[in-house]
Amino acid sequence: MPKPPENICEKSLSEVDTLEAEKLWIEKYRPQKLNEIVGQQEIMNRLQSFIEKKSLPHLLFAGPAGTGKTTAALCIARELFGEGWRQNLLELNASDERGIDTIRTKVKDYARTRPIGDVPYKIILLDESDALTSDAQHALRRTMEMFTHSTRFILDCNFSSRIIEPIQSRCAIFRFRRLSDKEIEHMLKRIARGEKLTLTPDAIKVIIYVSEGDMRHAINVLQAAAALKKKVDEKAVYEVSATAKPEEVKQMLELSLSGKFEEARKKLHELLIDRGLAGEDILDQVHREIFNLQIPERAKVELVDKVGEFSFRVTQGANERIQLEAMLAHFGLVGRPES
Ligand SMILES: Nc1ncnc2c1ncn2[C@@H]1O[C@H](COP(=O)(O)OP(=O)(O)OP(=O)(O)O)[C@@H](O)[C@H]1O
Ligand SMILES: [Mg+2]
Repeated sequence: MPKPPENICEKSLSEVDTLEAEKLWIEKYRPQKLNEIVGQQEIMNRLQSFIEKKSLPHLLFAGPAGTGKTTAALCIARELFGEGWRQNLLELNASDERGIDTIRTKVKDYARTRPIGDVPYKIILLDESDALTSDAQHALRRTMEMFTHSTRFILDCNFSSRIIEPIQSRCAIFRFRRLSDKEIEHMLKRIARGEKLTLTPDAIKVIIYVSEGDMRHAINVLQAAAALKKKVDEKAVYEVSATAKPEEVKQMLELSLSGKFEEARKKLHELLIDRGLAGEDILDQVHREIFNLQIPERAKVELVDKVGEFSFRVTQGANERIQLEAMLAHFGLVGRPES
Protein backbone atom coordinates (compact mmCIF):
# COMPACT_ATOMS: atom_id res chain seq x y z
CA MET A 1 0.00 0.00 0.00
CA PRO A 2 1.41 3.42 -0.85
CA LYS A 3 2.48 5.36 2.17
CA PRO A 4 0.63 8.61 2.71
CA PRO A 5 2.98 11.54 2.22
CA GLU A 6 4.43 12.46 5.59
CA ASN A 7 4.63 16.12 5.04
CA ILE A 8 1.02 16.61 4.07
CA CYS A 9 0.05 18.28 7.29
CA GLU A 10 3.07 20.53 7.30
CA LYS A 11 2.42 21.54 3.73
CA SER A 12 -1.17 22.46 4.26
CA LEU A 13 -0.23 24.47 7.31
CA SER A 14 2.25 26.53 5.37
CA GLU A 15 -0.40 26.98 2.71
CA VAL A 16 -2.71 28.33 5.35
CA ASP A 17 0.06 30.74 6.34
CA THR A 18 0.45 32.01 2.82
CA LEU A 19 -3.27 32.35 2.50
CA GLU A 20 -3.32 34.35 5.71
CA ALA A 21 -0.54 36.60 4.48
CA GLU A 22 -2.15 37.11 1.11
CA LYS A 23 -5.56 37.81 2.52
CA LEU A 24 -7.07 41.08 1.46
CA TRP A 25 -6.86 43.58 4.26
CA ILE A 26 -10.43 44.69 3.66
CA GLU A 27 -11.42 41.20 4.81
CA LYS A 28 -8.71 40.74 7.43
CA TYR A 29 -9.64 44.05 9.10
CA ARG A 30 -13.36 43.95 8.47
CA PRO A 31 -15.00 44.82 11.81
CA GLN A 32 -16.60 41.79 13.49
CA LYS A 33 -18.71 43.74 15.97
CA LEU A 34 -20.81 46.87 15.56
CA ASN A 35 -18.62 48.76 18.04
CA GLU A 36 -15.54 48.14 15.89
CA ILE A 37 -17.08 49.95 12.92
CA VAL A 38 -15.47 53.35 12.47
CA GLY A 39 -17.84 56.34 12.28
CA GLN A 40 -21.60 56.10 11.52
CA GLN A 41 -22.05 56.48 15.27
CA GLU A 42 -25.76 57.26 15.44
CA ILE A 43 -26.60 54.38 13.17
CA MET A 44 -24.53 52.00 15.28
CA ASN A 45 -26.27 53.15 18.48
CA ARG A 46 -29.69 52.47 17.03
CA LEU A 47 -28.66 49.09 15.61
CA GLN A 48 -27.17 48.16 18.96
CA SER A 49 -30.47 48.86 20.69
CA PHE A 50 -32.29 46.57 18.24
CA ILE A 51 -29.88 43.81 19.14
CA GLU A 52 -30.25 44.35 22.88
CA LYS A 53 -34.01 44.01 22.55
CA LYS A 54 -33.60 41.17 20.06
CA SER A 55 -36.22 42.92 17.99
CA LEU A 56 -35.24 43.80 14.47
CA PRO A 57 -37.36 45.56 11.86
CA HIS A 58 -36.61 45.16 8.15
CA LEU A 59 -33.64 47.40 7.44
CA LEU A 60 -32.63 49.45 4.44
CA PHE A 61 -29.00 50.60 4.40
CA ALA A 62 -28.31 53.27 1.81
CA GLY A 63 -25.12 55.17 1.04
CA PRO A 64 -21.89 55.39 -0.92
CA ALA A 65 -19.60 52.41 -1.56
CA GLY A 66 -17.19 51.22 1.12
CA THR A 67 -18.80 52.91 4.09
CA GLY A 68 -19.77 49.88 6.17
CA LYS A 69 -23.24 48.79 5.02
CA THR A 70 -22.55 45.12 4.34
CA THR A 71 -20.18 45.03 7.29
CA ALA A 72 -22.90 46.34 9.62
CA ALA A 73 -25.35 43.71 8.34
CA LEU A 74 -22.86 40.91 9.00
CA CYS A 75 -22.14 42.28 12.48
CA ILE A 76 -25.86 42.29 13.27
CA ALA A 77 -26.17 38.62 12.30
CA ARG A 78 -23.08 37.71 14.31
CA GLU A 79 -24.22 39.54 17.43
CA LEU A 80 -27.82 38.45 17.23
CA PHE A 81 -27.27 34.75 16.57
CA GLY A 82 -23.83 34.14 18.10
CA GLU A 83 -22.04 30.92 17.02
CA GLY A 84 -24.60 29.66 14.53
CA TRP A 85 -24.97 32.97 12.73
CA ARG A 86 -24.05 31.55 9.33
CA GLN A 87 -27.02 29.18 9.34
CA ASN A 88 -29.41 32.01 10.05
CA LEU A 89 -28.18 34.34 7.35
CA LEU A 90 -28.74 34.12 3.61
CA GLU A 91 -26.60 36.50 1.60
CA LEU A 92 -27.73 37.30 -1.90
CA ASN A 93 -26.08 39.61 -4.32
CA ALA A 94 -28.92 41.24 -6.15
CA SER A 95 -26.88 42.48 -9.09
CA ASP A 96 -25.76 38.96 -10.03
CA GLU A 97 -29.17 37.49 -9.58
CA ARG A 98 -31.42 40.35 -10.43
CA GLY A 99 -34.35 38.45 -11.85
CA ILE A 100 -37.74 37.91 -10.37
CA ASP A 101 -37.09 34.15 -10.23
CA THR A 102 -34.39 34.53 -7.60
CA ILE A 103 -36.76 36.36 -5.33
CA ARG A 104 -39.53 33.85 -5.94
CA THR A 105 -37.49 30.71 -5.38
CA LYS A 106 -34.34 31.30 -3.35
CA VAL A 107 -35.80 33.80 -0.95
CA LYS A 108 -39.04 31.90 -0.48
CA ASP A 109 -37.31 28.55 0.06
CA TYR A 110 -35.06 30.05 2.65
CA ALA A 111 -37.73 32.13 4.34
CA ARG A 112 -39.86 28.99 4.77
CA THR A 113 -37.35 27.01 6.84
CA ARG A 114 -37.23 27.47 10.59
CA PRO A 115 -34.54 29.55 12.27
CA ILE A 116 -31.91 27.71 14.35
CA GLY A 117 -31.47 28.89 17.96
CA ASP A 118 -33.55 31.09 20.24
CA VAL A 119 -34.13 34.10 17.97
CA PRO A 120 -37.49 33.54 16.26
CA TYR A 121 -36.41 34.78 12.82
CA LYS A 122 -33.61 34.58 10.26
CA ILE A 123 -31.98 37.29 8.21
CA ILE A 124 -31.84 37.66 4.44
CA LEU A 125 -29.21 40.12 3.32
CA LEU A 126 -29.82 41.49 -0.14
CA ASP A 127 -26.72 43.28 -1.28
CA GLU A 128 -26.97 45.89 -4.04
CA SER A 129 -30.73 45.71 -3.91
CA ASP A 130 -31.08 48.83 -6.04
CA ALA A 131 -30.01 46.62 -8.97
CA LEU A 132 -33.22 44.57 -8.63
CA THR A 133 -35.71 45.12 -11.42
CA SER A 134 -38.94 46.78 -10.47
CA ASP A 135 -40.82 43.49 -10.97
CA ALA A 136 -38.42 41.73 -8.65
CA GLN A 137 -38.90 44.47 -6.07
CA HIS A 138 -42.67 44.04 -6.19
CA ALA A 139 -42.25 40.29 -5.74
CA LEU A 140 -39.90 41.00 -2.85
CA ARG A 141 -42.45 43.24 -1.22
CA ARG A 142 -45.00 40.42 -1.15
CA THR A 143 -42.41 37.97 0.11
CA MET A 144 -41.45 40.36 2.89
CA GLU A 145 -45.05 40.47 4.01
CA MET A 146 -45.63 36.74 3.79
CA PHE A 147 -42.64 35.80 5.93
CA THR A 148 -42.44 38.68 8.40
CA HIS A 149 -42.93 36.29 11.34
CA SER A 150 -39.86 34.23 10.42
CA THR A 151 -37.56 36.50 8.43
CA ARG A 152 -36.02 39.94 8.52
CA PHE A 153 -34.63 41.55 5.40
CA ILE A 154 -31.59 43.80 5.32
CA LEU A 155 -31.40 45.59 1.99
CA ASP A 156 -28.14 47.27 1.04
CA CYS A 157 -28.07 49.82 -1.73
CA ASN A 158 -26.24 52.89 -2.97
CA PHE A 159 -29.33 54.84 -3.99
CA SER A 160 -32.48 54.50 -1.89
CA SER A 161 -34.41 56.38 -4.58
CA ARG A 162 -34.14 53.26 -6.75
CA ILE A 163 -36.05 51.22 -4.20
CA ILE A 164 -39.80 51.22 -4.70
CA GLU A 165 -41.82 53.22 -2.21
CA PRO A 166 -43.76 50.26 -0.69
CA ILE A 167 -40.49 48.57 0.26
CA GLN A 168 -39.03 51.76 1.70
CA SER A 169 -42.08 52.18 3.89
CA ARG A 170 -41.67 48.65 5.28
CA CYS A 171 -38.08 49.26 6.36
CA ALA A 172 -36.25 51.34 8.91
CA ILE A 173 -33.96 53.39 6.67
CA PHE A 174 -30.35 54.14 7.63
CA ARG A 175 -28.24 56.50 5.56
CA PHE A 176 -24.52 55.82 5.72
CA ARG A 177 -22.15 58.76 5.22
CA ARG A 178 -18.80 58.92 3.51
CA LEU A 179 -16.16 58.55 6.21
CA SER A 180 -14.41 61.68 7.45
CA ASP A 181 -10.67 62.30 7.10
CA LYS A 182 -10.18 61.53 10.79
CA GLU A 183 -12.11 58.27 10.53
CA ILE A 184 -10.10 57.08 7.54
CA GLU A 185 -6.89 58.05 9.32
CA HIS A 186 -7.96 56.11 12.40
CA MET A 187 -8.49 52.92 10.38
CA LEU A 188 -5.27 53.31 8.40
CA LYS A 189 -3.31 53.63 11.63
CA ARG A 190 -5.07 50.59 13.08
CA ILE A 191 -3.94 48.53 10.07
CA ALA A 192 -0.44 50.00 10.06
CA ARG A 193 -0.04 48.82 13.67
CA GLY A 194 -1.37 45.38 12.79
CA GLU A 195 0.94 45.00 9.80
CA LYS A 196 3.93 46.73 11.44
CA LEU A 197 4.11 49.32 8.70
CA THR A 198 5.61 52.76 8.82
CA LEU A 199 3.03 55.12 7.43
CA THR A 200 4.14 58.71 6.91
CA PRO A 201 1.71 61.59 7.64
CA ASP A 202 1.99 62.63 3.97
CA ALA A 203 1.00 59.17 2.83
CA ILE A 204 -2.07 59.30 5.08
CA LYS A 205 -3.05 62.64 3.55
CA VAL A 206 -2.78 61.29 0.03
CA ILE A 207 -4.77 58.15 0.82
CA ILE A 208 -7.50 60.36 2.30
CA TYR A 209 -7.44 62.49 -0.85
CA VAL A 210 -7.71 59.57 -3.27
CA SER A 211 -10.28 57.57 -1.32
CA GLU A 212 -12.88 60.34 -0.94
CA GLY A 213 -14.49 58.83 2.13
CA ASP A 214 -14.56 55.26 0.78
CA MET A 215 -12.91 53.07 3.42
CA ARG A 216 -12.61 50.05 1.14
CA HIS A 217 -10.71 52.13 -1.39
CA ALA A 218 -8.47 53.60 1.32
CA ILE A 219 -7.54 50.16 2.67
CA ASN A 220 -6.91 48.74 -0.80
CA VAL A 221 -4.61 51.62 -1.69
CA LEU A 222 -2.71 51.12 1.55
CA GLN A 223 -2.28 47.41 0.88
CA ALA A 224 -1.09 47.99 -2.67
CA ALA A 225 1.40 50.64 -1.55
CA ALA A 226 2.67 48.42 1.27
CA ALA A 227 3.33 45.61 -1.21
CA LEU A 228 6.18 47.73 -2.60
CA LYS A 229 7.89 48.24 0.76
CA LYS A 230 7.14 48.33 4.49
CA LYS A 231 7.56 52.08 4.64
CA VAL A 232 4.59 53.67 2.96
CA ASP A 233 5.26 57.24 1.90
CA GLU A 234 3.58 59.74 -0.38
CA LYS A 235 5.45 58.50 -3.45
CA ALA A 236 4.41 54.87 -2.94
CA VAL A 237 0.77 55.88 -2.63
CA TYR A 238 0.82 57.92 -5.82
CA GLU A 239 2.48 55.05 -7.63
CA VAL A 240 -0.32 52.62 -6.90
CA SER A 241 -3.32 54.88 -6.92
CA ALA A 242 -3.35 56.16 -10.52
CA THR A 243 -3.97 59.68 -9.29
CA ALA A 244 -2.27 62.94 -10.19
CA LYS A 245 -0.94 65.19 -7.45
CA PRO A 246 -3.52 67.90 -6.79
CA GLU A 247 -0.81 70.52 -7.34
CA GLU A 248 -0.13 69.17 -10.82
CA VAL A 249 -3.79 69.42 -11.79
CA LYS A 250 -3.98 72.88 -10.29
CA GLN A 251 -0.93 73.94 -12.25
CA MET A 252 -2.45 72.63 -15.49
CA LEU A 253 -5.62 74.61 -14.82
CA GLU A 254 -3.74 77.79 -14.00
CA LEU A 255 -1.68 77.48 -17.18
CA SER A 256 -4.76 77.08 -19.33
CA LEU A 257 -6.61 79.92 -17.58
CA SER A 258 -3.69 82.27 -18.15
CA GLY A 259 -3.73 81.51 -21.86
CA LYS A 260 -0.66 79.25 -21.90
CA PHE A 261 -2.44 76.55 -23.84
CA GLU A 262 0.64 74.76 -25.18
CA GLU A 263 2.12 74.39 -21.71
CA ALA A 264 -1.17 73.25 -20.25
CA ARG A 265 -1.47 70.70 -23.02
CA LYS A 266 2.02 69.41 -22.27
CA LYS A 267 1.04 68.91 -18.64
CA LEU A 268 -2.07 67.07 -19.73
CA HIS A 269 -0.05 64.72 -21.94
CA GLU A 270 2.27 64.03 -19.05
CA LEU A 271 -0.67 62.81 -16.98
CA LEU A 272 -2.62 61.10 -19.72
CA ILE A 273 0.11 59.53 -21.81
CA ASP A 274 3.33 59.30 -19.77
CA ARG A 275 1.61 58.36 -16.53
CA GLY A 276 -1.33 56.52 -18.07
CA LEU A 277 -4.06 58.12 -15.95
CA ALA A 278 -7.64 57.71 -17.13
CA GLY A 279 -9.37 60.71 -18.68
CA GLU A 280 -12.33 60.30 -16.37
CA ASP A 281 -10.11 60.36 -13.31
CA ILE A 282 -8.34 63.49 -14.51
CA LEU A 283 -11.71 65.15 -15.09
CA ASP A 284 -12.75 64.18 -11.61
CA GLN A 285 -9.63 65.80 -10.17
CA VAL A 286 -10.07 68.90 -12.35
CA HIS A 287 -13.55 69.20 -10.91
CA ARG A 288 -12.20 69.03 -7.37
CA GLU A 289 -9.38 71.51 -8.01
CA ILE A 290 -11.59 74.21 -9.53
CA PHE A 291 -12.83 75.00 -6.04
CA ASN A 292 -9.28 75.63 -4.84
CA LEU A 293 -8.52 78.20 -7.55
CA GLN A 294 -8.28 81.90 -6.72
CA ILE A 295 -10.70 83.06 -9.40
CA PRO A 296 -14.07 84.84 -9.33
CA GLU A 297 -17.13 82.75 -8.55
CA ARG A 298 -18.58 83.46 -11.99
CA ALA A 299 -15.54 81.85 -13.65
CA LYS A 300 -15.84 78.79 -11.39
CA VAL A 301 -19.45 78.40 -12.50
CA GLU A 302 -18.40 78.41 -16.14
CA LEU A 303 -15.59 75.92 -15.56
CA VAL A 304 -17.74 73.50 -13.59
CA ASP A 305 -20.42 73.71 -16.24
CA LYS A 306 -17.83 72.78 -18.90
CA VAL A 307 -16.41 69.93 -16.84
CA GLY A 308 -19.91 68.50 -16.67
CA GLU A 309 -20.22 68.65 -20.42
CA PHE A 310 -16.83 67.13 -21.19
CA SER A 311 -17.23 64.48 -18.56
CA PHE A 312 -20.48 63.43 -20.21
CA ARG A 313 -18.82 63.24 -23.61
CA VAL A 314 -16.00 61.09 -22.26
CA THR A 315 -18.38 58.68 -20.57
CA GLN A 316 -20.23 58.41 -23.87
CA GLY A 317 -17.04 57.15 -25.48
CA ALA A 318 -15.54 60.25 -27.13
CA ASN A 319 -11.75 60.38 -27.49
CA GLU A 320 -10.36 61.38 -24.07
CA ARG A 321 -7.34 63.23 -25.31
CA ILE A 322 -9.28 65.37 -27.76
CA GLN A 323 -11.97 66.12 -25.21
CA LEU A 324 -9.55 67.08 -22.47
CA GLU A 325 -7.58 69.30 -24.82
CA ALA A 326 -10.80 70.94 -25.97
CA MET A 327 -11.67 71.55 -22.35
CA LEU A 328 -8.32 73.22 -21.66
CA ALA A 329 -8.76 75.33 -24.80
CA HIS A 330 -12.14 76.43 -23.52
CA PHE A 331 -10.72 77.25 -20.09
CA GLY A 332 -8.31 79.61 -21.86
CA LEU A 333 -11.31 81.51 -23.17
CA VAL A 334 -12.88 81.71 -19.71
CA GLY A 335 -9.63 83.04 -18.23
CA ARG A 336 -9.16 85.70 -20.92
CA PRO A 337 -9.46 89.24 -19.54
CA GLU A 338 -12.52 91.00 -20.93
CA SER A 339 -11.67 93.25 -23.83
N1 LIG B 1 -17.10 52.22 8.73
C1 LIG B 1 -16.12 51.33 8.53
N2 LIG B 1 -15.28 51.00 9.52
C2 LIG B 1 -14.27 50.11 9.32
N3 LIG B 1 -14.04 49.50 8.15
C3 LIG B 1 -14.85 49.77 7.14
C4 LIG B 1 -15.93 50.70 7.26
N4 LIG B 1 -16.57 50.78 6.09
C5 LIG B 1 -15.93 49.96 5.25
N5 LIG B 1 -14.89 49.35 5.86
C6 LIG B 1 -13.94 48.42 5.24
O1 LIG B 1 -14.25 48.36 3.85
C7 LIG B 1 -14.66 47.04 3.47
C8 LIG B 1 -15.92 47.16 2.62
O2 LIG B 1 -16.98 47.63 3.42
P1 LIG B 1 -18.50 47.19 3.18
O3 LIG B 1 -18.54 45.90 2.45
O4 LIG B 1 -19.20 47.26 4.48
O5 LIG B 1 -18.96 48.38 2.22
P2 LIG B 1 -20.42 48.73 1.71
O6 LIG B 1 -20.84 50.00 2.40
O7 LIG B 1 -21.30 47.55 1.81
O8 LIG B 1 -20.08 49.11 0.18
P3 LIG B 1 -20.86 48.74 -1.18
O9 LIG B 1 -21.89 49.81 -1.36
O10 LIG B 1 -19.78 48.85 -2.23
O11 LIG B 1 -21.42 47.37 -1.04
C9 LIG B 1 -14.87 46.30 4.76
O12 LIG B 1 -14.46 44.96 4.62
C10 LIG B 1 -14.02 47.01 5.77
O13 LIG B 1 -12.72 46.45 5.72
MG1 LIG C 1 -22.05 46.20 0.36
